[in-house]
Amino acid sequence: MKWGVISTAKIGTDKVIPAMQESDRLEILAIAGRDFEKTRAVAEKLRIPRAYGSYEELLADPTIEAIYNPLPNHLHVEWTIKALEAGKHVLCEKPIGLDTADAKRLIAARDKSGKQVLEAFMVRHHPQWQHARQIVANGEIGDVTTVQSIFTYFNADPDNVRNKKDIGGGGLLDIGCYCVVGPRYILDREPVRVVSLIDKDPKFGTDRLASGILDFGSGIQASFACGTQSAAVQRVHILGTEGRIEIILPFNAVQENPAVIRVGTQKQPGFDEAREISFPVCNQYTLQGEAASAIFAGESTVDYPIEDAIKNMQILDALARSSKTGSWEMVA
Ligand SMILES: NC(=O)c1ccc[n+]([C@@H]2O[C@H](COP(=O)([O-])OP(=O)(O)OC[C@H]3O[C@@H](n4cnc5c(N)ncnc54)[C@H](OP(=O)(O)O)[C@@H]3O)[C@@H](O)[C@H]2O)c1
Repeated sequence: MKWGVISTAKIGTDKVIPAMQESDRLEILAIAGRDFEKTRAVAEKLRIPRAYGSYEELLADPTIEAIYNPLPNHLHVEWTIKALEAGKHVLCEKPIGLDTADAKRLIAARDKSGKQVLEAFMVRHHPQWQHARQIVANGEIGDVTTVQSIFTYFNADPDNVRNKKDIGGGGLLDIGCYCVVGPRYILDREPVRVVSLIDKDPKFGTDRLASGILDFGSGIQASFACGTQSAAVQRVHILGTEGRIEIILPFNAVQENPAVIRVGTQKQPGFDEAREISFPVCNQYTLQGEAASAIFAGESTVDYPIEDAIKNMQILDALARSSKTGSWEMVA
């Protein structure tokens, strides 16, 4: 699969492009940026054969079959549609759009183009999540009643895309989306209603701390906290009637060390006994690029189509609504 990248975004140049270049199942042939000289320098550094000074030129390149779109959130849908219209498959960064209405525009464009669009939730490609999901599905920790997620970091840079309200900034869209997709993936079911509490930065107008509860029905609930002006931490706890799973570095698993999850079965408080399961070193962005390439080549089927991305947006929208109404909001 021959890939092109729209923009010199940090996530692309620091993580996703180098990771994809580790695979022999795909090639990154081109990168486009608004500033040609900057883009050319990035291409040279990353050994990408072609640099373009506009996104349009990249989309007009007939050798490119797939686009990786790591633009700021407000441009995800617009440029994904343009890429589809140019006959390319698209792997688009999370969140798929600004809101549900924005994301829904992708359905018609995808169907008209006959190409595929995938949301870049790399975590679903990491074996630690796949194994945790398998443990839950096997019933090893009994009936799962709660998934708790925390994901925070500190970033108060006014120039960062995350702190710009008008282009889709804020913690809920940036990292809250993982706290929604994670429980959906583990539980393999959808929440019916949500409630949230959100604190906004007075200068940026973006959410800097969001807490929420997702009601999956039948007594099953997920809760989360995500923040952009707190010390950095990330953890997921999956609680069942017979045991628990703890994912130590759920979202930014590193390539340098094996990822570790802990599975505990003690039932009395005051103990922290758990068996550790570690996974061979891997790069979730490489796995994501390979999985997307296989889907685009028609070699494997789509597990998480754009309709799944829309469900995630509907939950994020309901969380945002709840913070305004102060009450439970139905999803959808
Ligand atoms: N999956 C993950 O692990 C992960 C991690 C971090 C971020 N992300 C996602 O990746 C996306 C990019 O995040 P990032 O932190 O990499 O952003 P970033 O470094 O600010 O990059 C965004 C790029 O978009 C281009 N751009 C076009 N119009 C722009 C505008 N109006 N304002 C700013 N940039 C504009 C710029 O590239 P040119 O100048 O080259 O055109 C810029 O470098 C976001 O959607 C974010 O949610 C995903």
